Amino acid sequence: MMKMYHNPVLLHESVKGLKIIPDGTYVDVTYGGGGHSKVILQKLGPKGRLIAFDQDRDAHKNKIHDNRLKLIESNFKYLSFFCTLLSSSNEITLLIKSFS
Ligand SMILES: C[S@@+](CC[C@H](N)C(=O)[O-])C[C@H]1O[C@@H](n2cnc3c(N)ncnc32)[C@H](O)[C@@H]1O
Repeated sequence: MMKMYHNPVLLHESVKGLKIIPDGTYVDVTYGGGGHSKVILQKLGPKGRLIAFDQDRDAHKNKIHDNRLKLIESNFKYLSFFCTLLSSSNEITLLIKSFS
């Protein structure tokens, strides 16, 4: 059975708090239903990047098709390894972790 993800609490307020820089590189370590990632992508410009993690295969059925997003099926404990591999600048602007 497909897993259901509820709407994240205070979604827009929490993303607003990130003060997104359009060209920044952001990491969502708990992708889930992609609610936070979707709003982050709306605020990123064409050069912005979003790296997202979810270890649960079901979450990957919610993948947003956007070439600025790289969704990784892995535990976020390997964050450092993947971000070094994927980030050309080796610089992560901000990391978001949400279990709401
Ligand atoms: C409540 S959901 C997150 C909701 C998401 N922020 C959204 O906007 O839809 C939590 C997700 O975190 C994932 N998760 C929990 N611990 C994790 C870990 N250590 N590494 C990767 N994913 C993890 C779970 O598989 C689950 O899909």
